Formats: sequence, C-alpha cells, structure tokens
Amino acid sequence: MNVVDSEVVAAILQQHKYQVTEDINEADLILVNTCSIRDNAEQRVRARLRDFKKLKEQKRDLSVGVIGCMAERVKEQLLEEEPVVDLVVGPDAYRDLPALLQEVESGQKGVNTILSLEETYGDIRPVRMDRNHVTSFVAIMRGCNNFCAYCVVPGTRGRERSRDPETIVREASELFTKGYREVTLLGQNVNSYRWKEGDSLLKFEKLLERVSGIDPAFRVRFATSHPKDMSDELLKVIAQHPNLCRAIHLPVQSGSSTVLERMKRRYTREHYMDRILAIRKYLPGATISTDIIAGFCGETEEEHQETLSLMRWAEYDFAYMFKYSERPETFAAEKLKDDVSEVDKTRRLSEIIALQSKLSLESKERDVGQSFEVLVEGTSKKSEEQLYGRTSQNKVVVFPKKDLKPGNYTNITITNCTSATLIGT
Ligand code: 5AD
Ligand code: SF4
Repeated sequence: MNVVDSEVVAAILQQHKYQVTEDINEADLILVNTCSIRDNAEQRVRARLRDFKKLKEQKRDLSVGVIGCMAERVKEQLLEEEPVVDLVVGPDAYRDLPALLQEVESGQKGVNTILSLEETYGDIRPVRMDRNHVTSFVAIMRGCNNFCAYCVVPGTRGRERSRDPETIVREASELFTKGYREVTLLGQNVNSYRWKEGDSLLKFEKLLERVSGIDPAFRVRFATSHPKDMSDELLKVIAQHPNLCRAIHLPVQSGSSTVLERMKRRYTREHYMDRILAIRKYLPGATISTDIIAGFCGETEEEHQETLSLMRWAEYDFAYMFKYSERPETFAAEKLKDDVSEVDKTRRLSEIIALQSKLSLESKERDVGQSFEVLVEGTSKKSEEQLYGRTSQNKVVVFPKKDLKPGNYTNITITNCTSATLIGT
C-alpha cells in the first residue's frame, strides 16, 4: 500500500516541476513514506532521519518530509522532536503537497494531517516505481473500519472508502497495455469493497470479474482479505476465472477464539477453519497464507498452543509473523494489559517461525514433480543465467533463462526446492 501511495505522491509532484531521482545526492526533496504498524517500523524511520540530517548539513537547501501513517500519528510533535523535518503530511493530504512545499520554500514548516472521508486519489495516474515492469499494484480502497484492538490503521488512515471502479479498471487496463502482466488489487479489507451505481451495489467479486476481463493473460491478485467477510461467492468467482490467482492471503492473527475476541477480530477459530475449508473446496491447490501475532495481551501458553495447532491444521504455505507491539491510542493500549513478557513473546514467535519454516518447506516439496504456468518477472539475483517468476499460487520459481523474457508465460516442471523457492526447468 505504501508503494502505491509513493507512486501517487510522485504523480502529484511531477505535475509541479518535481522529478523522481534514483540518486539521493541529487535530491532537493526527500520524502520518507512511513508505517506505524509496529514500533520498530517507526524506529527505523527515526534512524533514517538522522542520516538525512547529515545530508542536510552538506546541502542547505535540501528539504525533508515525513509522509504516511507516522506523519498522521505523531503530527506536529515530529517537527519538535526531529528538527531535520520540514514537512509532515498525512495519508489523505497528498494533494496539498505542492502548496505545503511552497510554504517550506518560504522558510516555514508545512503540516497537513487532515483525514478525509472521500479521498481515494482515484483520478491520479501513479508514476510507477516498480523494478520489473511486469507486476504492479492498484489501490482499490483506503482506510479501515474494523478497529482490531491492536491496530493503528483505522487511526492513521481513517475511515474505509472504496475507489470508483471505472478508474480502477482504466488504470489496470493501461498497465496491461504498457506490458504489465499482473496486478494486485490492494486494500486493508478488500472483501468489503463496495461502490453504489444508481440503485445497485458493486461488490468486490464483481470488481474482480471486471478486472479479470481485461485480458486472460493479465493475472489478478488481491490483498488483504478479512476472514469475517470471506464469502463463498467470492471463491466461486475466482474458481471461474483462470487468471484470478490461486493464492489467498487470510490473516488469522491467532488460533485461539478467546484471543481473537480480545483482539476484536469478530470471528472464532471455528469460523476461520470453515473459511479455510471453503477455500480448499472451491479452489483446490490454492496456496493459503496468513499473518500471525505472537504474545498479544493476556495470551496464555494454551492460547499460544492453539495458534500452533491451527497452523498445523491449515498447513499454511507462507506467513508473516510478528511479536505484538503495543501502539498508542489503540483499544489494546488503552484497555488491555501488554502483559506477556518480552522473553515469552520472543520464544513464542520463534516457535511460530520454526513451525512455519517446516510448513513452507513441506508446501514446496508437494510441488516437486509437478508443472506450473510461471509468469517471468526478471533475472535471478544469484545468477545471470537464471530467471525467476511466480506461479499462480504465488510461489517463486527459479529456472534457466533460455530465450525467455520478463512478461512471458512459460511452463516449468519443478525439480527441487528450498523453503522459500521452487527450482525447475
Ligand atoms: N503488533 C504486531 N503486529 C501487528 N499487526 C498489526 N498491528 C500490529 C501490532 N500492534 C500485524 C497484523 C496485520 C499485519 C499487517 O501487521 O498481523 O495483519
Ligand atoms: Fe488493522 Fe484490523 Fe483494519 Fe487490518 S482489518 S488494517 S488489522 S484494523
């Protein structure tokens, strides 16, 4: 999502004499697009700002701005705590950047952290900053209304709003015409995408159908889905369209119903398992990935074991795994106790990671001997003679170059694997 936001910001600034540069020493303006989801993300930004302070000492007219969630969360306080910062702009205020930059040019600080109920930047054609020119991202909605107890997103990105489907389909079609062969539709909770057209309501599955209709050679992915809204209708639509990818990311967060209740996730372990069974039923062979938080408020050893047992049951192909990090002004920070010791959090997270490494390897091993259609993305990091690409199931495959080019589709037979990569010919 932040990559897409950076592309929107680049587009807004390009209309006002600015250009993107690859060389930081050439920059007159540095914008740090920030994430507040965990404390360590914010600490990394603070460290980067110290680097920029050194640059600014060498180049007096350099301006530095903080944009995104951290700008929204810390606001004016950032200007006091980090004197290197000239500009603080929240996720809904990017159109104001040119005006704020004028203020900075005249020696003032520029601040706008006003959140909006409508802003989707729907009309803006993002300046692509990806490297491979094959895979791309399109934001279909902004904000979130779910208020999970641990999460800053509803506070930093504001209320949920969907983007006009016409602009989504137009942007995706243009990407295909430019040679892109894959698009990921992005939102905090894509299953609750909705757009009113006259009296009728356009829901996510319809949008997905429209985007999949652009071209059969245009792969479509989406993230992230919320288990409470993952419907059979959506899975049936995916099943009907081969270019809708066989990979579902369904963050579980915890395998324990009591923890899920404290997290305000609004589903139980049983409901989540029912949704996994539905995915297996409608999309056999699809990969299922997840997000897991270790050591949320009050998590007991038994509750942690329930997460491990759910992971084993679901046989996740991939997972993003985190230690719980208390975020200011969330429900959990204000009403619950962050009482799992750092030692226990660390141990539980390592148990989760160790189990997932085993599951990821088993998932790849199941693919050995099978053939998959792979979209070529680029040259492998390890060898000029090898390319890498992805299967519809979102697994990375490395294979000999031959005369293939990024953007081509090719059938690859898997001969070997690691826990992260398939190897094939
Ligand atoms: N601490 C740790 N992980 C978090 N996430 C969101 N908020 C927190 C937090 N306070 C994780 C969730 C979410 C992913 C994007 O980040 O797993 O799905
Ligand atoms: Fe945060 Fe929950 Fe919204 Fe995801 S669904 S962004 S975890 S509040």
